[in-house]
Amino acid sequence: MQIILCDSAEQVGARAADLVEARLRQGPAVLGLATGGSPASTYEELIRRHREESLSFSQVTAFTLDEYAGLPANHEQSYHSTIRREFVDHVDLPLEQLLTPRGDAADLVTEADRYDAAIVAAGGIDIQILGIGANGHIGFNEPTSSLASRTRVKTLAGATRADNARFFPEGEVPRLCLTQGLGTIRDAKRAVLVALGENKANAVRAMVEGPLSAHCPASVLQLHQHAVIILDPAAASQLSLLDYYREAQELNDQL
Ligand code: PGA
Repeated sequence: MQIILCDSAEQVGARAADLVEARLRQGPAVLGLATGGSPASTYEELIRRHREESLSFSQVTAFTLDEYAGLPANHEQSYHSTIRREFVDHVDLPLEQLLTPRGDAADLVTEADRYDAAIVAAGGIDIQILGIGANGHIGFNEPTSSLASRTRVKTLAGATRADNARFFPEGEVPRLCLTQGLGTIRDAKRAVLVALGENKANAVRAMVEGPLSAHCPASVLQLHQHAVIILDPAAASQLSLLDYYREAQELNDQL
């Protein structure tokens, strides 16, 4: 894992945006997009570069990580709507190149298989942007998810439903979702995980320094050849090898 320690959320966004931009400058790309608060500064910076530095997303195909079961794409709280509102509608990524699991599919099991196959058919994801849940989930792969899992239907953990309850009328937080699996995420050519804030610090430590374990689904990134973890000071605060990460980062930045 490559650990990048930053001073602020803005710097986290800039470092993640650098990785995305470097890939886009090489030609057509497949991006994996996360929703949620964590990648907000990354999307803000990519939008700024689009507006001010003509960074183009016209050759990008994008796959989102997950979707609530039961919500149609045009529901205000669907992740399809969310990623449009927070990113896609502000850049030149053609809407037909934005692919999300269909939460309102009649047969969710078949839809999950279709989505996983669509990622493979697109040539796989070049850069997968990720956040991490306070319980260590990535996508909606809750603790005890198989480290080899593919896109599938999952039951949301109580902690995740509580985190997301503010977006729904009381009692209406979905209980099921479709999510790329940990094996699907591991297949991405590069994984870029951004984490901000103290409430992620324990999950970040378990991911980076803990055992490889389905109990912390994000620890699957220990098996990834090109995983980059970008942290603000609070999210990094529980790591025990900070001096080593700092030294490695200094040397890496000189390469
Ligand atoms: P957040 O969520 O980015 O909104 O904190 C991350 C996650 O739960 O995966």
